[in-house]
Amino acid sequence: MRKKILAANWKMNLTHTEAESYFQAFLSEIGHINDVEIVIIPPFIAIPALVSASEKVSFVRIGAQNMHWEKSGAFTGEVSATMLRALYIKYVIVGHSERRTLFGETDEIVNRKVKTALDAGLRPILCVGETLRERDSGQVEEVLRRQLHECLETVMEKDLTEIVVAYEPIWAIGTGRSATPAEAEQAHAFIRSVLAELYGVLAADRVRIQYGGSVKPENAEDLMRQKNIDGALIGGASLDPRSFARIIWRAEAALT
Ligand code: PGA
Repeated sequence: MRKKILAANWKMNLTHTEAESYFQAFLSEIGHINDVEIVIIPPFIAIPALVSASEKVSFVRIGAQNMHWEKSGAFTGEVSATMLRALYIKYVIVGHSERRTLFGETDEIVNRKVKTALDAGLRPILCVGETLRERDSGQVEEVLRRQLHECLETVMEKDLTEIVVAYEPIWAIGTGRSATPAEAEQAHAFIRSVLAELYGVLAADRVRIQYGGSVKPENAEDLMRQKNIDGALIGGASLDPRSFARIIWRAEAALT
């Protein structure tokens, strides 16, 4: 049984004080949650405030949106896996399409980040997904296969369950146009089949695969009911604590 994981990717939004207010509002909204895992992923600078605010809240974890692949050194402006671990961070997003398209991250860089994160005891949320042009020209499977093969190169089977894969079709991110539950399920099942080719069916079965791209309270339940969808990575709709809470309730409703 894969526990669903709902993660709020704030991107470059909210100051550290706004993050604290958000967190208090979110807690009073959500009450207590046991059945799904919740991760809030703010900009780096708000991480310390949220880590201390969430100290006594066992069902919420704080994550990071990015990290460098080297352990330390002359990399002005970068943050290392060790620094994140020192703040008790567990999850880190790697290979988000915004990092790939706006900051030139390649599959090779993403692969290095995955391995560095695992070495440091972090769980990577590995983002994959196709562009609209790739979808329209029938290349979805080819793109996903290539991204998975390259981003997971030399990653060992024992580490696979530490990884969460996020399927994020680029045409659905921030556009209001989510993949339909059937489209998403098809891609998720394909991703799991590629993981099974690489690591065997049993290992692939344990990996959680999140869907990301215009998830909102209105579409969350139908998406979460799909067999191979094990959670969501939510951008825009997670910036409002009430809307993030509503998405989590819809995910819980999908469990019944
Ligand atoms: P969105 O972003 O929910 O705003 O589409 C998702 C993401 O980029 O992780």
